[in-house]
Amino acid sequence: MKEINKYDLCKYVDPMATGKDWAIAVASDGTRTNGLTIGWAQFGTLWGKLAATVYIHKTRFSKQVFDGAEYYSICFMKPEQKAVMEYFGKVSGRDEDKMKNCGIEVETGDVAPYFKDSRVVVLCRVMGRSDFDPNSADENVKDWYQREGVHTLYHGEIVKVLVNE
Ligand SMILES: Cc1cc2nc3c(=O)[nH]c(=O)nc-3n(C[C@H](O)[C@H](O)[C@H](O)COP(=O)(O)O)c2cc1C
Repeated sequence: MKEINKYDLCKYVDPMATGKDWAIAVASDGTRTNGLTIGWAQFGTLWGKLAATVYIHKTRFSKQVFDGAEYYSICFMKPEQKAVMEYFGKVSGRDEDKMKNCGIEVETGDVAPYFKDSRVVVLCRVMGRSDFDPNSADENVKDWYQREGVHTLYHGEIVKVLVNE
């Protein structure tokens, strides 16, 4: 993959379309590597840095891995990889080695693992984590938390952006 100027990220990813243009967030805690499909992400400025925030439910296996990781990647896949994104969004790394089972090639030589065949990879250093406070939520948002616990937000400094062209 080719590194681009990280300030050009929005030429490759529409920040208003992450609900449709899903991605897979990937991290390693040094022992375990795992990824999950994400539909929620924000890109912008935080604490004076170019930043990305992702939301991971406390119930996800990925939460355990991300909590032990200093860096994570956000892998935007190609449209033809929809089945991979569905698989990573349905199956838990608790039960299966998702990378192995779908034969996806993982690059492990950078700050965080990422999928070599991604369309765009955003590498992030964790600046902070925070748990969403459901008591602060309005009625519509509360509906999201009827069944499962809240999300943890991972506030990452964008350190590198890679593209496959
Ligand atoms: C389109 C789509 C978007 C998703 N977005 C998120 C998300 O932003 N945060 C999250 O915690 N789970 C999200 N999920 C659910 C997880 O990807 C799913 O529960 C996954 O199996 C968790 O894997 P893990 O247990 O290996 O972490 C999404 C699933 C899909 C299909």
